[in-house]
Amino acid sequence: MSVKKIAILFSGEGSNLENLIKKLHKKDFNDFTVEVALAITNNPNANGIKRALKFGINPIIIDHRDFKTREEFDKRVVLEINKRGCVLSVLAGFMRILTPIFTQNIKALNIHPSILPLFKGANAIKRSFQSDMKVAGVTVHTVTDELDGGEILAQECFNKEGMDFASFEEKIHKIEHEIYPKTVIDFLKTL
Ligand code: GAR
Repeated sequence: MSVKKIAILFSGEGSNLENLIKKLHKKDFNDFTVEVALAITNNPNANGIKRALKFGINPIIIDHRDFKTREEFDKRVVLEINKRGCVLSVLAGFMRILTPIFTQNIKALNIHPSILPLFKGANAIKRSFQSDMKVAGVTVHTVTDELDGGEILAQECFNKEGMDFASFEEKIHKIEHEIYPKTVIDFLKTL
C-alpha cells in the first residue's frame, strides 16, 4: 500500500480542514493511504490550528506579514510543501492570492463557495446570497495563475429561495464537507 502525502492550507475557521483530516488522514483508499503530512496557515490566530491539534497535526504558521512580497511568502510555502514530499496541496479557506511561484510549482486544489465563474474572490458567500439569482453553490477546481480559475472538477448547486443567511451559509458548508474530500480522493487516484 503506497502513501500519498497531502498538505492542507487554511487561514481561518478551519471547518474544511477538520473535515478533510477526519475523512482522509491515515485512511485507506483501495491501493493507497492518505497522510496529511503538513498543515500550513498564514494566520497565527486561525481557529483551524486548534482543530488540527485535536488530531495530532501541528500546523506550521507562515505569517504573510513577515514577508516583503507575495513571491517571498510563496517561496517559503513551496519549500515546506516540497520538503515533506506532498503530492497535492488542498486549499481550505486559504485566503491568499498566490503567485506563479506557487501555482507553477505546486499541484493544488481549491474550494470556492459559489458557482464559478460567478463571485470569484473574497466574500463570495455574502455576494452569492445577496444576488438575485435563484440558485447558489460550491465549486472545487484546480489552482492556476488565475484567481479562482482553473479546471472545474466538482460543482453542486441548490435553490436558495426563501433562505435566511444563516441557513444559506450552513448549506454551503454542508455541501463543501461532502464534495471536497470525495474530489480530493478522485484527484489523488489520477496521480
Ligand atoms: C469556505 O467556505 C471556503 O469555500 C471559502 O472559505 C471558507 C472557509 O471556511 N474559501 C474561499 O472563499 C476561497 N476563495 P472554513 O475555514 O470553515 O473551512
